[in-house]
Amino acid sequence: MDKKRVFSGIKPSGDFTIGNYMGALVNWVASQDEKENIFCIVDLHSITVPQDPKEVKRRNLEFAKIYLAAGLDPKKSAFFIQSDRPEHSELTWILNCFTYFGEASRMTQFKDQYREKKKNVTVGLFDYPVLMAADILLYDTDEVPVGEDQKQHVELTRDIAERMNKKFDKLFTIPEPIIKKTGAKIMKLGEPTKKMAKSDVNPNNSIYLRDNAETIRKKFSRAVTDSDNKIKFDKAKKPGISNLLNIMSVATDTPIPQLEKKYASSNYGQFKSDVADSVIEMLAPIQAKLAEYDKNEDYVLKVLRDGAETVAPRAQAALKRVKKAVGLGI
Ligand code: TYM
Repeated sequence: MDKKRVFSGIKPSGDFTIGNYMGALVNWVASQDEKENIFCIVDLHSITVPQDPKEVKRRNLEFAKIYLAAGLDPKKSAFFIQSDRPEHSELTWILNCFTYFGEASRMTQFKDQYREKKKNVTVGLFDYPVLMAADILLYDTDEVPVGEDQKQHVELTRDIAERMNKKFDKLFTIPEPIIKKTGAKIMKLGEPTKKMAKSDVNPNNSIYLRDNAETIRKKFSRAVTDSDNKIKFDKAKKPGISNLLNIMSVATDTPIPQLEKKYASSNYGQFKSDVADSVIEMLAPIQAKLAEYDKNEDYVLKVLRDGAETVAPRAQAALKRVKKAVGLGI
């Protein structure tokens, strides 16, 4: 049987967090052997909000190092920088013309950011989910492994693809979002009712992939919890403890009920210290490999160049098919 094709991406808009690792990257690595894999570093998405160009460039390379260090194998997974494949932007324009203003206006991530910023919100930020749809549809993707926050965007992708399939007969493969039960929504350490995010101005809310052991311990020791001293999973009543259980569950690959049992008579101090240790242990081999790739950036750049070349025929064929269906070009 043919392997299912997987596509996913991460945007280099801030430093890589354990939220990105636990919600996305770790799952990509885990299913790498069973699937045909395409992973992207979506720099075009990152410029939907203001960026320092030097930082975007630095993070493109940094995220590729993280993909490699976390275990993505270039022989099994193609990965590349989104803007190195012009088909993404071109397909976006065409999809724009089949996406309704009303449905794009309902995207909660856009609405939240619009409410927060109000001023200088770009058309690019509004159009971001359509660019994401183009990423996915260009590769006849079957599965899109993401965190919870991206579900609505994959649903919009499906709606656009189904609409165009009705009009143009089997133009696109309809993708499925793949969202794991644990790790799909890691929360801020200091505000556990909000999603941990790369763009957070307060670095104490996030654990970054390069954080050292001391920093990780300090951040977890300050994590917001509650006052009833029971280590139990209850998202509504105990968001802080539930978040820490979730993190430890992914870091140690242990189901949450088993952790609740283990820590039934522990205090929060001990628990937080063990959560920190589990994350330090999870990150140690990744950090060791990152240090190796730091010394071998030419290799990382070659992997990215090769990845963009490997995926080119598929992207070009899909774009050609769409242009022909819509009646574009000579
Ligand atoms: P981005 O860069 O915000 O996040 C990358 C991936 O990490 C997941 N994620 C989280 N998971 C758990 N807890 C968190 N706190 C957390 N924060 C982020 C996200 O769900 C995502 O899977 N638009 C996308 C990138 C993208 C994409 C695509 C994804 C562009 N094109 C095509 C899939 C397919 C984004 O900005 O993700």
